[in-house]
Amino acid sequence: MTTFWSTYICVLTIGSLIGLTWLLLGTRKGESPGTTDQTMGHSFDGIEEYDNPLPKWWFWLFVGTLVFSVGYLILYPGLGNWKGILPGYQDGWTGVNEWQKEMDKADAKFGPIFAKFAAMPVEEVAKDPQALKMGGRLFASNCAVCHGSDAKGAYGFPNLTDKDWRWGGEPETIKASIMGGRHGVMPAWAEVIGEQGVADVAAFVLSNLDGRSLPEGTKADPANGEKLFATNCVACHGPQGKGTPAMGAPDLTHPQAFIYGSSFAQLQQTIRYGRQGQMPAQQEIQGNDKVHLLAAYVYSLSQEAESVSAK
Ligand code: HEC
Ligand code: HEC
Repeated sequence: MTTFWSTYICVLTIGSLIGLTWLLLGTRKGESPGTTDQTMGHSFDGIEEYDNPLPKWWFWLFVGTLVFSVGYLILYPGLGNWKGILPGYQDGWTGVNEWQKEMDKADAKFGPIFAKFAAMPVEEVAKDPQALKMGGRLFASNCAVCHGSDAKGAYGFPNLTDKDWRWGGEPETIKASIMGGRHGVMPAWAEVIGEQGVADVAAFVLSNLDGRSLPEGTKADPANGEKLFATNCVACHGPQGKGTPAMGAPDLTHPQAFIYGSSFAQLQQTIRYGRQGQMPAQQEIQGNDKVHLLAAYVYSLSQEAESVSAK
């Protein structure tokens, strides 16, 4: 801290303390020595204001806090660049240093454990109860905001506990998803195939989904949709609509795994305007060892899941 700011803080703090002391003592002048029955003439809701001195214990409580703060400011670093006279605060105590010390301690304690797991394959780590516990904690604090505390996802965020993967469910692809993040790019089609085309191809996708039927009175032609699908969609979603993990293009035959909804209206919305799902990269934030644990944790979640694809 520069001398200017240090002085500024000292003047403000010491000034306030002196000011408060003066207020406390100053307002005692002219006080009636004992209690009186005379009111000030103010009354509100039946409560009347008297002109009595502060209770003694209250006055002394104020004095006590003032004395405490003076003592505190002498002992501890609170005033500008003043380091306090207590030993242990002489090497520049700051909240940041303190946090860094705690982090160093935690790294020293957990670093070797992280490193041990980082040297094991993800599948092995996924069987270790201690690793899963640590991975679970990392997940709760870094991933649950989007994927939910049960990792089952939400609108716009994929479920990580099932067998449906947008980018692939192999241990290494899961790790790559977390490490580098993912950006799903579904183009917008309204301008390319027109509003009727959007309705037709949505109708085709819908009718392709476990025998769903179109809402009553819909003017959409699934047969034309099929043609549009063959020309515009197979490049990414594959000829059977089964998806292409390398592009994050999801399997369009599993409505359970749709993150943007599978009703006729929602499908049209997705196709009309496109979608841009973003998974933030964790490499910089967590580092390899923590991502490795997270990958193992996520991998373990889907291992007992009944495969939707298998049915
Ligand atoms: C800001 C929200 C957000 C956070 C935080 C987040 N994710 Fe994601 N994640 C997403 C989105 C959105 C996708 C889907 C990307 C797409 O559209 O392809 C995704 C995709 C994934 C995938 C790929 C799923 C698949 O089907 O292939 C994995 C694995 C994953 N996240 C794990 C994690 C883990 C582990 C964390 C915590 C370190 C995390 N995510 C934190 C939003 C988030
Ligand atoms: C350039 C590749 C590409 C093309 C072409 C493409 N898609 Fe997609 N599609 C994607 C990707 C990637 C996603 C995932 C977007 C995300 O995760 O945010 C997606 C998502 C979707 C979804 C949403 C699935 C969900 O989880 O809710 C639907 C429905 C869909 N596409 C239908 C279509 C149809 C119909 C066409 C053809 C008119 C088409 N797509 C063409 C790449 C493509």
